[in-house]
Amino acid sequence: MEKLTNISLKPYNSFGIDVKARKMFIIKDIYELTDSFETAFASDKTWIILGGGSNILFTEDYNGNVIKIDFKGIQVLDITAEHVYIRANAGEEWDNFVNFCVENNLGGLENLSYIPGSAGASPIQNIGAYGVELKDFFHSLEAMEIATGTIKRFKKAECNFGYRTSVFKTALKNKYVICSVIFKLDLNHKINRGYKAIDEYLTQNKINSPAIGDIRKAIIHIRKSKLPDPKYLGNAGSFFKNPVISKKCFKELKNKFPNIPAFNDKKGYIKIPAGWLIEQTGWKGYRKGNVGVYDKQALVIVNHGSANGGEVLGLANMIKQSVYEKFGIKLEPEVNIIKS
Ligand code: EPU
Repeated sequence: MEKLTNISLKPYNSFGIDVKARKMFIIKDIYELTDSFETAFASDKTWIILGGGSNILFTEDYNGNVIKIDFKGIQVLDITAEHVYIRANAGEEWDNFVNFCVENNLGGLENLSYIPGSAGASPIQNIGAYGVELKDFFHSLEAMEIATGTIKRFKKAECNFGYRTSVFKTALKNKYVICSVIFKLDLNHKINRGYKAIDEYLTQNKINSPAIGDIRKAIIHIRKSKLPDPKYLGNAGSFFKNPVISKKCFKELKNKFPNIPAFNDKKGYIKIPAGWLIEQTGWKGYRKGNVGVYDKQALVIVNHGSANGGEVLGLANMIKQSVYEKFGIKLEPEVNIIKS
């Protein structure tokens, strides 16, 4: 285990916010985690667990312990006639894991290609994109209970997955550290090309019967064309969740804004793309000083250089206010906002 003090967190968050942490523990395997849980968690009341740092906004120096989960590795656990059970350790880079699955012809996660972040963080917000959510192929996970240092297995039903949420973001928030995640993938996989942009890519490239590798290529192409690469432009993907409103509210909005895009959600509810709401309020491509709204996707707030967390949050609040004034909808952040 590596222990660092008074360290800049800039390389550890995709927004590229330069705040300092008092102490940081970089944990390389599950035994280091269980051995160090008292030092890392119990000695200081304030701590935060960091995976890939791709869905987080630090707003000030962090006064507690930062625990960086860095244990990597992928293991095939079992192969049946139709399925493969495969485990990713928490610190494994998510897209590295997806790539491994695709290269080994294991279907399911290809639509979730190129999402930044770590495998361990992926179930917390039930990552989703292009018609697939993590929960569709999730089997179980192992996590350490912070209060006791014991390892517990969670089956799918125990995780309470929902739209960008799980029990680890709600009832069990900050109670467990996810150590590894097990997926049940398909050997005879049915391709999911329902999303318009995927279908367009396949048609343009004259791919009639796509393999999962083609879907991965399509997704990477779409994501690169619409979303900024944090290596060059700090960001944390979608800053806000897409709001879900009742059918009744939607009808009223549709009368006022006939072009409003909408997707069916759970019974009686409609999901509205936050990107559209933000674009309609004029923020797309906005820039002031170090912060701005990405010009190809209004849902993404970007750091043009040396923005601090307060500037990003200030812009997010102004966007929220405009959307509320125009549409009466309260946007909620998808990004985890950290104040210590
Ligand atoms: N739109 C606009 N202007 C914009 C952006 C979007 O008008 O600037 C409208 C368009 O009508 C478009 C619709 O919004 O048809 C949907 O946009 P898009 O397909 O880009 O998807 P999204 O709803 O903005 C969600 C996820 C993304 C995921 C994509 C693709 C959320 C908050 N975001 O975005 O996830 O990649 O779908 O499935 O659910 C992430 O969570 O960080 C993320 C990138």
